[in-house]
Amino acid sequence: MKTVLIASNNDHKYEEISAILAHLPIRLVKPAELGLNVDPTETGATYFENSLLKARAFHQASGMPVLADDSGLEVELLGGEPGLHSHRFSPKPGASDHDRCLYLISKLVGKPKPWHATFHCHAVFLISPTLIGASHGTVRGEIIEEFRGSNGFGYDPIFFVPSEGKTMAELGSPYKNKNSHRARALAGLDLLKSWSLEAD
Ligand code: IMP
Repeated sequence: MKTVLIASNNDHKYEEISAILAHLPIRLVKPAELGLNVDPTETGATYFENSLLKARAFHQASGMPVLADDSGLEVELLGGEPGLHSHRFSPKPGASDHDRCLYLISKLVGKPKPWHATFHCHAVFLISPTLIGASHGTVRGEIIEEFRGSNGFGYDPIFFVPSEGKTMAELGSPYKNKNSHRARALAGLDLLKSWSLEAD
């Protein structure tokens, strides 16, 4: 079976990507399984640039086909923040997902509701430096003040999906892995699909 390296050290992302791509005949491996210690600095100006930068770094270190994603949460009232800086948003050293959510809420309290927000994901599949596929996915929702649900990661407990009346963390993986920004980006990655189905 063809093997693809996931260009992320985030176990939550690995689990999600594995579930989303379970229908494809590929084996996904984590950097840690190969003893790889790669942590590229995300200096890109877009999700695509950061995703490509991660894909290139992990490909260079492994020589393998690599799947990368870069994602973030854009809040309308904050002019699209935290966006590319979603992971580094909280000023607290060693901030947790919970800290990042609290910090985001603190920036919005007192502002008119609903607090419209969109998750973005840009996925890149890199087979070689010149054979690259990319795809972008989004999901719209609202940031809420209370934490609800225990599934997912990051901002999921405060990301409310109005059509479902629940947060992404309450909806859980069956819903998220069909409808999230990541699921939508991966669904559009035609190069990964065609390559995985090609005979060796
Ligand atoms: P990156 O793609 O690793 O740079 O992730 C950026 C940050 O965006 C993560 O650390 C999370 O805080 C947030 N994020 C990305 N994807 C998700 C998601 O699916 N749910 C909730 N938060 C997310």
